Amino acid sequence: MPSTPPCAMVIFGASGDLAKLKLIPAIYELAIEGLLPEQFALLGYARTEMSDEAFRQICIEAIGKNARTAKKMGANQEKLSWLMDRVYYHTGQYDKPEDFQKLKTRLDELDRRYRLQGNRLFYLSTPPNAFVPISECLGQQGLVERVQSGAVEHKGSWQRVIIEKPFGHDLKSAQELNALLMHSFHESQIYRIDHYLGKETVQNLMVMRFANSFFEPIWNYKYIDSVQITVAESVSADDRAGYYDKSGALRDMVQNHIFQLMALVAMEPPVALDARSIRDEKVKVYKSIRRFSPRRVDEFVVRGQYGPGEVNGKKTEGYLKAKGVAPDSTTETFVALKLFIDNWRWSGTPFYIRTGKCMPSKVSEVTVRFRSPPLTLFQKQCESPVFPNDLVIKVAPEEGISMHLNGKVPGGSMNIKSVEMNFNYASAFKKEAPEAYERLIYDALLGEQTLFIRGDEAEAAWEVIDLILEGWKHSTRKPEEYAPGTWGPRRAIELMEHDGRRWSRGQGEGEPIIACSL
Ligand code: BG6
Repeated sequence: MPSTPPCAMVIFGASGDLAKLKLIPAIYELAIEGLLPEQFALLGYARTEMSDEAFRQICIEAIGKNARTAKKMGANQEKLSWLMDRVYYHTGQYDKPEDFQKLKTRLDELDRRYRLQGNRLFYLSTPPNAFVPISECLGQQGLVERVQSGAVEHKGSWQRVIIEKPFGHDLKSAQELNALLMHSFHESQIYRIDHYLGKETVQNLMVMRFANSFFEPIWNYKYIDSVQITVAESVSADDRAGYYDKSGALRDMVQNHIFQLMALVAMEPPVALDARSIRDEKVKVYKSIRRFSPRRVDEFVVRGQYGPGEVNGKKTEGYLKAKGVAPDSTTETFVALKLFIDNWRWSGTPFYIRTGKCMPSKVSEVTVRFRSPPLTLFQKQCESPVFPNDLVIKVAPEEGISMHLNGKVPGGSMNIKSVEMNFNYASAFKKEAPEAYERLIYDALLGEQTLFIRGDEAEAAWEVIDLILEGWKHSTRKPEEYAPGTWGPRRAIELMEHDGRRWSRGQGEGEPIIACSL
């Protein structure tokens, strides 16, 4: 893998949780892999007063606690001191031009000292209300040279910005944010992050579909009965309820992570493996999602809120009792959806999605369920039908792919059992996958935009979400309470049962062998 070019990376919000948990550890891992050049500097920027040395201590602690390899075998002292020799901190507000002037002076100094060639990557890991002021100040104070339409970004020095989620809270705010970012940056300089796109299995989805010949011919409504996407978390929202209450599961997980998964499963083969071609195909998927009237929202969408209880030994008093949540809050901590992609490939094939907090375990997976064989031969001898063929793309906790096939149980009678053929990344490649943020920061440093979301893509996804939000404004049905440690409210199960289907988890997995006698 090529090393990245000379660059100063600036993290806004450097004293926050994301920086400590993910960003600084990811930068350390890139250093360990030898992917950062000698000409590199990292500048933390936040409102908290702090010296360079104090920030370095925070970085060392964050790396020791959170970096993938350091957690296992301790930090590599040589690499750590190499990195710390390049770490600095700058105190400033996010909207004061004079603070950005000082930042510019500081970056110019670092540029000279480390020969960074004027290349800058700005990471906006701040609350969303700081995105616009920061981007305006960067542009107005001359920290960024905006690429003109049609110009090539890589001529001379470059400046790029990575924007954390949430990217807007509805279509209008996303459009406004896009327009305001454009004052300082050209689209080719903007990297909207969705950390799911940095996950190995998610990237592998395209390899699975387009580098193997046996999936693509049957990857359509003729052979696929339905697609399910489950992203379940056992943690509650109690610790970050202040933020969560303004967001909810639909905005927090569906608009971004789950829609990305869905788009990669559903999209047409891109004409090339470049950012533009792939993102064009994803946008087409969002545009093809069937629009239903907001009045019918409760037919297609179920929302839930966890009540009091316990998951994995961790108690919660229930979402409505969490700090920062209004006692009558209708924010959903669980959502299940049924969507249709009205195009040639997916006509009539439902996509079921569900995500929630306080569920029995942390599981992220896509289940592609194939239609039953045309003649269910075995049904004549069996009381219940044979199991469906599922292809399960596992994103977490383990990463891999598993195929559920019907197999004959050895013996004299015709007993059928669903068996799994498993491909597990860790054991197949004997290599631990990098963390999503490692891959994404590396790509942004290289100027590779494929795994980032384009402006129109974010807007197209919000268009669908807006319909649901609009429907909820008028719906008389409030989120249904569910007990922590369960797979969500009863109505989510009914959403499937109504169609004669069932969820692949939480609804009869590990079913007994179907007894058949010849
Ligand atoms: C974040 C959401 O984007 O993704 C969180 O804001 C969620 O609510 C997290 O917990 C899940 O990410 P992962 O990688 O742990 O599945």
